Amino acid sequence: MKKKLLSLILVASMAASMLAGCGSKDTTETVNDTPAAEEAAGSEDAADSNASSGNLQVGIVLPTKDEPRWLQDQAQFESILGDAGFTNQVLFSQGSSATERTNVETLVSQGIDVLIICAQDAAAAAAAVEEAKAEGVTVIAYDRLITGTDAVDYYVTFDSFSVGAAQGQYLIDNAPAGSGIPLYLYAGAATDNNAFIFFEGAWSVLQPKIADGTFVIANSSEAVALQDKAELTRDEEATIIGQVTTDWDFNVAKSKAEAHLTAASADMKGDVVVLGPNDGTARSIADVFATDKDITSYIITGQDAEIASVQYVIDGKQSMTVFKDTRTLAADSVAMAVSVLNGETPTTDSTYDNGVIEVPSKQTDIVVVTQDNVKSALIDSEYYDASEFTGLE
Ligand code: BGC
Repeated sequence: MKKKLLSLILVASMAASMLAGCGSKDTTETVNDTPAAEEAAGSEDAADSNASSGNLQVGIVLPTKDEPRWLQDQAQFESILGDAGFTNQVLFSQGSSATERTNVETLVSQGIDVLIICAQDAAAAAAAVEEAKAEGVTVIAYDRLITGTDAVDYYVTFDSFSVGAAQGQYLIDNAPAGSGIPLYLYAGAATDNNAFIFFEGAWSVLQPKIADGTFVIANSSEAVALQDKAELTRDEEATIIGQVTTDWDFNVAKSKAEAHLTAASADMKGDVVVLGPNDGTARSIADVFATDKDITSYIITGQDAEIASVQYVIDGKQSMTVFKDTRTLAADSVAMAVSVLNGETPTTDSTYDNGVIEVPSKQTDIVVVTQDNVKSALIDSEYYDASEFTGLE
């Protein structure tokens, strides 16, 4: 009870500081680095900690340390929560739903009030959050929706449909003139609900251009079979994603791209366009397309504005990325936690159907980044420092 009261005081002062936008430090509670908490979390490799042992307030579970995207989120959480004086701990699932569940259990056993979780696998995470919910923890799904359960209180996300639509539209707007342009489709992991939403967004703009002959699908017989359908059911999407998934894995992306180009006939080479689902996979796919002597030019999309991909954009090796400002997403989810702990209803602006309930959600807009606006979107906004790049004008 005493702990709850302390939480409320801390979150209230944090909310005030966030609203004032002054970034001042709340020093009412010291945030410590405790190796003991890391040990309790299982493996040092899977755990990053700045928690007070046994008295955690906010637990965060992220999918993997192996993609820069999630390290960006980690940095934002630690900075926002740390500045506000919250005890918090970020744990990584390292691609494993079993580790994810252990991480949730570890955080719950340390007394968290709020769990912010980006699921490794949308369906498999249901059991883990049900366990947390049963202990009175408020569950906020972060970036990726958790499906098939009523144990998700809120969902904080980017506008993922717009991400896919922006990628598709970029290909349309920048494709060479004419028709019959080969289109290579790639998607995220089938276990990630976002992969479906990204694909749905991309399909919404690409399908009419496939139907009118501007683009010809080069690498998916399943997509070809469905190319006359403006809207796909989830099962139909699943058949395409099953064929062109990268699993969000650079190596899978690379070997799929190699196999596709090996199998492609001459008329599927030349000037081509490629739906690259995110930055890590886009770089792998781009490298493969760049080394094929029969590919004269390629346009490829991405998302996440990872440093390596921003450099690829500057260098003309990746055509665009979608900037998803993790500062906003992390701040939104923490502000949501603050409202919940204050007994208020957090502001939401949409709902997402997770198969069981309509989850109250808050969406954040996205920004398309090309060579033309790297500086204004990413440097002037102080997301990155110019010194992290070469060749930036
Ligand atoms: C995220 C992307 C990320 C991908 C792979 C998606 O759920 O929204 O930003 O690139 O997962 O980790």
